[in-house]
Amino acid sequence: RILVIDFGSQVSHLICRRVREAGVYCELRSCLLKLDDVTGFHPNGIILSGGPHSVYDKDAPHLSQEIWNYIDEKKLPVFGICYGLQEMCHTLGGKVEPGVKREFGHADLLIREDVAHLSADGSKRIKGRSPIFEGISTEKVPVWMSHGDKVTQLPPGFTSIAYTSNTEFAAVEDQARHIYGVQFHPEVTHTPSGATMIKNFVLKVVGCKGEWNMHDFCQKQIDIIMNKLEDESGDEFGADFLFWQRVVDVGVDKYVVGAVSGGVDSSVAAALVHKAIGDRFRPFMVDTGLLRKDEAKIVKERLEKHIPGMKLKVLDASGDFYKELVRGPGLEGLHGLHAGVEEPEKKRKIIGRLFVEAFEKAVSEMGLPHERCLLLQGTLYPDVIESTSYKGPSSVIKTHHNVGGLPDRMKMEVIEPLRLLFKDEVRALGNELGLPVTSVMRHPFPGPGLGIRIIGEVDSHPCSEVTKESADTLSLADDIYIEELRKNGHYDKIGQAFAVLLPTVRSVGVMGDHRTYENVCVLRAVTTTDFMTADWYDMPHDVLARISNRIINEVKGINRVCYDVSSKPPATIEWE
Ligand code: XMP
Repeated sequence: RILVIDFGSQVSHLICRRVREAGVYCELRSCLLKLDDVTGFHPNGIILSGGPHSVYDKDAPHLSQEIWNYIDEKKLPVFGICYGLQEMCHTLGGKVEPGVKREFGHADLLIREDVAHLSADGSKRIKGRSPIFEGISTEKVPVWMSHGDKVTQLPPGFTSIAYTSNTEFAAVEDQARHIYGVQFHPEVTHTPSGATMIKNFVLKVVGCKGEWNMHDFCQKQIDIIMNKLEDESGDEFGADFLFWQRVVDVGVDKYVVGAVSGGVDSSVAAALVHKAIGDRFRPFMVDTGLLRKDEAKIVKERLEKHIPGMKLKVLDASGDFYKELVRGPGLEGLHGLHAGVEEPEKKRKIIGRLFVEAFEKAVSEMGLPHERCLLLQGTLYPDVIESTSYKGPSSVIKTHHNVGGLPDRMKMEVIEPLRLLFKDEVRALGNELGLPVTSVMRHPFPGPGLGIRIIGEVDSHPCSEVTKESADTLSLADDIYIEELRKNGHYDKIGQAFAVLLPTVRSVGVMGDHRTYENVCVLRAVTTTDFMTADWYDMPHDVLARISNRIINEVKGINRVCYDVSSKPPATIEWE
């Protein structure tokens, strides 16, 4: 397994993605980690990420000397990326200086084909390219650079293995010590051969087997949930497995309750826990009244069909949600707003609280002993990375209510069997568990649902906030939109698509001989790999025309459709 040490780059998590794509388990840890953290993880190799600092900055992060000593002593292979390369060269006796020219963006990498190497059996010296570049056929390799400083002198034992017109030491190695480094970013898709380089490091240099797969993961998780902490031979699952897995005791007298939203994460988590403990798992779905059209019914039917034996309880809490989110007499004091709840963060907090209340109600209605219930959460690895990375607290852009734990008043212990997985790994696990493609490949849907897609409020308009009417209007438009995307073969090319209703905006239109004065609906579709950045989807005009036509004709209350052409950043995916 590989330990990825994070020096604060925005794209450190992508290194993990690439390592796991190579079939090797890895984890991202802050560069402030201690020697014990490293030894406890038992890494076979280490990757040092990029970062925003200069190695000479007063507050620049450095790996402690004792970790370097450990690397030396265990002869651990190391791969430094950008700042990681500079940190490595700086520590090992090379020189890093501010570059005359900042290098940002595309560069052409030229691989040296005459690097002196030991042959594979170590018996003779041969000339050729570094093992890091094996299997890369292009002569000029496009790479993505983003650095100010650069290495100007290599530490003893190192040699340059590739260069660009601006950087002599664009890639370096000390083959005897298994230490490699690159100035560019192999983890981003702008470096198309980067995944091969990372794969070469973990498989060829480190010698990992590339056996991390969802079948094993699934079985190990089930064993852990069933509290079998040892494998058949009596061996522990390995310090590695238990080190990163938060083990929760689901003894035979315990129950697991879990809210299923119909989204990929909660469905996969539910299928996994059901497989492990059968009917001691009690899933329920909160119908907030802010779900997609017929969602509760469809999800219940689908899950019960594909997960034999599973019974999903649907709790209708829509009345409570509408009551609190909509403007009404007497609510002014309650929410501190002069009229309905339109301030996005306030809205999210209210929805979060209502969820917790619905959870508690569901558990009580199921007649389960509170103290013997655990709560299933579909937390994913990006959320874990976010809360443990070196970057420290980032400014709150949005409060995602399902991230960062539950309010203190929920005294239940939490079980998070997906907390080590990236989204597409969760999808692979869903396949492994037999969930249908329609569940596994679904676009994400936010917990607060349509509530954060009905924007703002207007004093005089009766349908201006998150009311049943506006939710119904939006769910109809959204349903037409998604149906057309599926019909026209676009759904699977898009990361997330949805409609937004602007009840505060009315526009004039004409239908037949009549003037209309109705609401605007905005269509959003983005492509993204990690939902941290996203591009707007280049939708063919004829598809847009058909969708617009259908929405305006079929959905009462909407007379204008717009298409959102903003990327993230600077916009976000959702409108609130
Ligand atoms: P943004 O809008 O932050 O969205 O670019 C990124 C991803 O997160 C989803 N999202 C949420 N999910 N509760 C959730 O469970 C929330 O409050 C929430 N807000 C945004 C969004 O749909 C997208 O997939």
